[in-house]
Amino acid sequence: MADTISFARGAPSVDIVDVDGLRAAAERAFSSDPAGLTGYGTAVGYLPLRAWLAERHRVEPTQVLVTNGSMQADAFLFDTLVASGDTVIVERPTYDRTLLSLRTRGADVRMVQLEPDGIDVAELQRLLAAGTRVKLAHIIPNFQNPAGYTLSAAKRQTLLDLARSHEFTIFEDDPYVSLRFAGESLPTMLSMEPERVVYASSFSKTVCPGIRVGYLVGAQALIADIAKLATNTYISPSMVSQGIVYEFARSGAIDRSIQTVRSALRERCQTLCRALSEHLPDARFVAPEGGYFLWVDLPPGSDAAALQTAVLAAPCLLRGHAGADRGRRRASGSGLRGGGLTGACGLRRPARWLASPAMAPVASPLRCRRCTPESPDGCSESSARPRAMCGRRTTRSPPGPTPVRAR
Ligand SMILES: Cc1ncc(COP(=O)(O)O)c(C=O)c1O
Repeated sequence: MADTISFARGAPSVDIVDVDGLRAAAERAFSSDPAGLTGYGTAVGYLPLRAWLAERHRVEPTQVLVTNGSMQADAFLFDTLVASGDTVIVERPTYDRTLLSLRTRGADVRMVQLEPDGIDVAELQRLLAAGTRVKLAHIIPNFQNPAGYTLSAAKRQTLLDLARSHEFTIFEDDPYVSLRFAGESLPTMLSMEPERVVYASSFSKTVCPGIRVGYLVGAQALIADIAKLATNTYISPSMVSQGIVYEFARSGAIDRSIQTVRSALRERCQTLCRALSEHLPDARFVAPEGGYFLWVDLPPGSDAAALQTAVLAAPCLLRGHAGADRGRRRASGSGLRGGGLTGACGLRRPARWLASPAMAPVASPLRCRRCTPESPDGCSESSARPRAMCGRRTTRSPPGPTPVRAR
């Protein structure tokens, strides 16, 4: 019996969610502040959590608004700042829900190519020089969704310079920042130039998405405007969720949770990189330094339809071979795992490759070296050596169309 490994979700799988810690935090939260948790609360969020976040970001509490997930923060921000027809820069590719949200509001969305060190600032510069008046630039600076790339320090500075000289706001959408497992951390653009930046982050990726807690940091006046919108939208976000997150954070459980998620992602990323190198040696990718996502380019001239058929018939990355010890079929993740690729590892799903002809290779069905079309499930243990290992930087991605991302 084959199991399926989902590559769809960019969030912690249940085995790395601190369920016991959350339960304990909930008990403490209800005991210590029953009125705060069970009342309507305020539109700006649970005040102790707001203050905790303000301290972390070294801003005033009045600059913070805590929401039901950061998608809600995005929606409030777009409703406040972006009118129909306004030009908004996004990365190409970017998070599909941001695109949807902007397009629904009638924004004039301009996509600027994403490179392994972040958005192509030269392309943005050309756009601005040609007279495009930009209202907002949406940037996912760390371990970008869906590419896994991180914006370099130099590009952070260039973006801020451009924002200042062309008077636009940078929306720094940063839910993955704590999940670095290699390389050096970089300062947020918010900390570099707070006047030009509105910042969003989330507990979905470090604690769990079901808790639905995200937040915005920005100028006091903007946050006050958004707080009015929040009041009119839902009176207040969930005080129960935010009270639990506050207790979880205050007690230090969150730091342990981040460590757990980070080290699991490091291991899963290495496993995936090894598997890709071994099974899809012609695929190119940049090994990410954190987060959940890895972007794969398959060789030019590949045939998306053929790939899809092949994956469905012989989904080597999704299904594995029989475990010798158990005499039955099991997920390839079990075989790959040096610590658990099984379950929602959260790395982009291979189906993404299929979404676009430019991304999707292989005229003859793509398959791993261990199986043949005749015996789609007939992988054997013998295999060729991987050509590259995780951590080796491969050539950068060619421009490709925006993929559709499953959340
Ligand atoms: C860049 C980015 N922003 C926002 C979100 C939404 O996060 P939340 O669960 O806090 O709504 C995601 C989720 O995948 C994301 O990748």
